[in-house]
Amino acid sequence: MRRDLHGKAIIITGASSGIGAATAIRCAEAGMDVLLTGRREDRLREVTGQIEQCGRRADLIVGDVTDPGMSGRLLDVAEQEFGRFDAVFANAGYGMNKSVLDMTDEEWRRIFDVNFFAGIELLRTAARRLLDRDRPGHLLMCSSCLSKFSLPRHSAYAATKAAQNALCSAMRHELRHHHIYVSSVHPITTTTEFFQASARASGRPPEQAMLPDHTPGLLVQRPERVARAVVRCLHRPCPEVWTSLLVRTIAGFMTISPRFYDWAIRRQTAAELRAEVQKDTPAER
Ligand SMILES: NC(=O)c1ccc[n+]([C@@H]2O[C@H](COP(=O)([O-])OP(=O)(O)OC[C@H]3O[C@@H](n4cnc5c(N)ncnc54)[C@H](OP(=O)(O)O)[C@@H]3O)[C@@H](O)[C@H]2O)c1
Repeated sequence: MRRDLHGKAIIITGASSGIGAATAIRCAEAGMDVLLTGRREDRLREVTGQIEQCGRRADLIVGDVTDPGMSGRLLDVAEQEFGRFDAVFANAGYGMNKSVLDMTDEEWRRIFDVNFFAGIELLRTAARRLLDRDRPGHLLMCSSCLSKFSLPRHSAYAATKAAQNALCSAMRHELRHHHIYVSSVHPITTTTEFFQASARASGRPPEQAMLPDHTPGLLVQRPERVARAVVRCLHRPCPEVWTSLLVRTIAGFMTISPRFYDWAIRRQTAAELRAEVQKDTPAER
């Protein structure tokens, strides 16, 4: 049955840009009140302004998702301001483009703290509170297509996304009898600030971001596409939100056949190496 979202409330982390901001606006258009969080207050205020223009209530909390007590604060504020929360979307995250050996222990821990541990804390705290209130709810986490296969120099990021995927599928079965549904979201390459943020986290200037400029158009999408899919999932809960049948199919092949996966990655890596060599070779005079 299609769930009516009108008058319901959602908490979204990482809502100052990209997928989180687009989802916040789309949720408001569907009739929801939205509590946003992120570190950039000016960007959060822009999004709350757009939500209010849709005639819905919006509030924000500025902070790092790893700040102690952040999850409890978010739930408290949603209940004070909106009288309830019906859904949470643990979306905040960033990537890294470094090899396994080049990454420091601190870098490994930080990416797991932000992408995985902050999200699990929010989902667990929200689930406990919904159980205490004997209320139904919907918990979502922004994973990635890279939860299903990894790529060279994306190991840490892909590992956090695979961990999110595993968490969501187990939690969904643990909570389904309490009418709390858990979904994971699996975007493909999406045109957001993710690539600049990942470059910064990897110690490179944002101008050197691995932008999806050369990715075939079929494999690139805008954040609004993910936002629409998330809202469809809020209306009709489903285990995993995908926005590309092609990538979902490729991911399936890679799981069925590790040899196919190795062949595809070798081809991709060889193409990247050729491009790097060409870039470094001075032009003939
Ligand atoms: N773009 C892609 O190709 C792609 C593909 C698959 C999955 N995803 C996933 O989609 C999610 C959203 O990313 P995006 O593409 O929309 O990129 P984005 O525009 O860079 O958004 C990332 C959001 O996360 C927030 N954030 C990052 N670190 C944070 C921290 N320590 N504390 C609080 N907030 C933090 C950022 O807010 P502040 O900077 O204001 O704190 C921002 O709002 C991520 O989980 C990402 O892994 C992205």
